[in-house]
Amino acid sequence: MKTAYNFNAGPCVLPRPAVNSAIEALQDFKGTGVSVIEISHRTKEWEDIMNETRALWRELLNIPDNYSILFLGGGASMQFLYVAMNLLEHKAAYLETGVWAKKALKEAKGLGNAYALASSADKTYSYIPKNYTIPTDIDYFHITTNNTIYGTEIHEDIDCPVNLVADMSSDIMSRPVDIKKYALIYGGAQKNVGPAGVAFAIIRNDILGKVSRYIPTMLNYQTHIDGESMFNTPPVFSIYVMHETLKWVKAQGGVSAMFERNKKKAALLYEEIDRNSMFIGTAAREDRSIMNVCFVMAPGKEELQDEFMAFAKSRGMVGIKGHRSVGGFRASIYNACPIEAVEALISCMKEFENLHK
Ligand SMILES: Cc1ncc(COP(=O)(O)O)c(C=O)c1O
Repeated sequence: MKTAYNFNAGPCVLPRPAVNSAIEALQDFKGTGVSVIEISHRTKEWEDIMNETRALWRELLNIPDNYSILFLGGGASMQFLYVAMNLLEHKAAYLETGVWAKKALKEAKGLGNAYALASSADKTYSYIPKNYTIPTDIDYFHITTNNTIYGTEIHEDIDCPVNLVADMSSDIMSRPVDIKKYALIYGGAQKNVGPAGVAFAIIRNDILGKVSRYIPTMLNYQTHIDGESMFNTPPVFSIYVMHETLKWVKAQGGVSAMFERNKKKAALLYEEIDRNSMFIGTAAREDRSIMNVCFVMAPGKEELQDEFMAFAKSRGMVGIKGHRSVGGFRASIYNACPIEAVEALISCMKEFENLHK
């Protein structure tokens, strides 16, 4: 198989053992003689996978008993709507740190009174706003902990006087999280916890049942809590790969071990970006993401962008093109991205600099 250093932003690199297990399960699921995509979700074999997957989440993130863990269709984008449907009664505030945050806010605005408490739109979302005070008269405060497109990240679990809701699509399981500080955490699986097709939601049970609107059955978190994420047919294959991905995280030493590795990979890459005369980083230093590393050609070198892209491609780099809305480069170095991939990219950047000396 061709060696590729996969820096895609999502779907993205997954642990090889998880991919191999998925291939095996497609042939024969747990010795049943049928494929994982052929088995009924009402069998004991499948229920075991659901229970084990929930248990792995609970163990890896130390999720207390008063939180439910859900696996749902519709991606993180559908969660934007779920959040507002289930929690917005009077007023909600959002931290506008990028396009995804803006899209989440749009859904809330469609249902009631929601606004951006602070925004970094003035500098193309290249930093995390800090000078704001969270009001106490709102139903919830919504943050996006990692801004996949701009490479910025909220590194701490912030103190919040009201229910804190977080989109953790692109940094879940990358660092330990103090779950108790959050009322609700959600995200799409397709970065650190599996393939596309399933979203996760971690919900403190007491926050539900407080709004007066009718919530359509499928958009009601309570429906899925009561049905243990099997009210309707769950995305079985995506959940199976999530199960295998979490098993791998556990085998690597858990989320703390992931965090140490992630910090190391990010530090190496940022160090090279800062040293190399050809490139500059785009995110404010203190807000730099350890998951998505964004950079552009240095001033005066802009015309070399396409050349570097082709050069990197010829050396096996995949998916380093920046998001279409910001351009430049983005290396997504999620949990399953090995340090060797980061080292290969760094070598490539050094070589390119030498070529143009
Ligand atoms: C932070 C963040 N939120 C939400 C989304 C949307 O996710 P989905 O495609 O699962 O709807 C993305 C996708 O990349 C994301 O990075």
